[in-house]
Amino acid sequence: MGDGSFWLPEAASSLASDLDVLFYFVIWVSTIIFVMVVTAMAYFTVKYRRKSPNERPPFLHEHKLLETAWIVIPTILVLIVFTWGFRSYVKLTVAPPDSYEIYVRGYMWNWEFTYPDQGFTTLEPILTVPVGRPIKLIMYSSDVLHSFYIPAFRVKHDVLPNRYTSLWFEAEEEGEYQVFCTEYCGTSHSAMLAEVNVVSEEEFADYLASGGGGYDDLPLEEYGQILYAGQSCQACHTLDGSALVGPSFKGLYGATRELTDGTSVVADEAYLRDSIVNPASQAAVGFVAGSMPNNYQGLGDRELNALVEFIKAQE
Ligand code: CUA
Repeated sequence: MGDGSFWLPEAASSLASDLDVLFYFVIWVSTIIFVMVVTAMAYFTVKYRRKSPNERPPFLHEHKLLETAWIVIPTILVLIVFTWGFRSYVKLTVAPPDSYEIYVRGYMWNWEFTYPDQGFTTLEPILTVPVGRPIKLIMYSSDVLHSFYIPAFRVKHDVLPNRYTSLWFEAEEEGEYQVFCTEYCGTSHSAMLAEVNVVSEEEFADYLASGGGGYDDLPLEEYGQILYAGQSCQACHTLDGSALVGPSFKGLYGATRELTDGTSVVADEAYLRDSIVNPASQAAVGFVAGSMPNNYQGLGDRELNALVEFIKAQE
């Protein structure tokens, strides 16, 4: 474990140390061979340089031992790396049969996690898992290619539309670990982040019992703020008045919007809600209809109301 090194980030899964040792083995063997070859080359260049114009190099005879050595030693090294790497690869690929399974959906530009036994889906990109238990992620995308990468666990796998891919890990220490999308997937690819929250078995049981939320008691506006970050609205909509891919939420409520079809409309609650659920229907001048993903029809009424309240509060 530890905080990582010059080469690698912190290691916090059961597979990480095995992979790291292999990585260091390859690095150090390559370094030693590189230094030996370059030193010998430099030495021979000086030692056997031509000293006068008439000098002819001596006739070279085969050296059986030397030739055998430089074939056999590298072959053994390559076989070690192959066997070691293949065994690690199999371990990395095949999840233990008793793994706890969680569905992962990637979409532009967010992650959400569904706990099949409880049936709830997260509203913030936070994957809560118990420590010391194998977790299998069953992953899919509802739009383009993404890739789910947890550096501290040394696992990464592409996430594709129309099929499941999976990866598994067993976290060894409680804590928070960063998740990145590592497949370029559009404007806000770099903001497509998530977090793995590794907790004790008891905390995990509480989390499942709470339905992943504890959001029910929040005032709508506060809940809307959580969704603004959790549903990745912030990737395209600022709160300071500057326009990104989409209009800023600052001062949006009550403003008159010039639409691309030539009409205009006052941004009231109905307009805000329509624009979340069916973004292409009322695109404002200056913004490209269809640049907002069609991902938000799935939000519940409470979630939509909360977002509307949050946007209304951005005066
Ligand atoms: Cu999703 Cu990059």
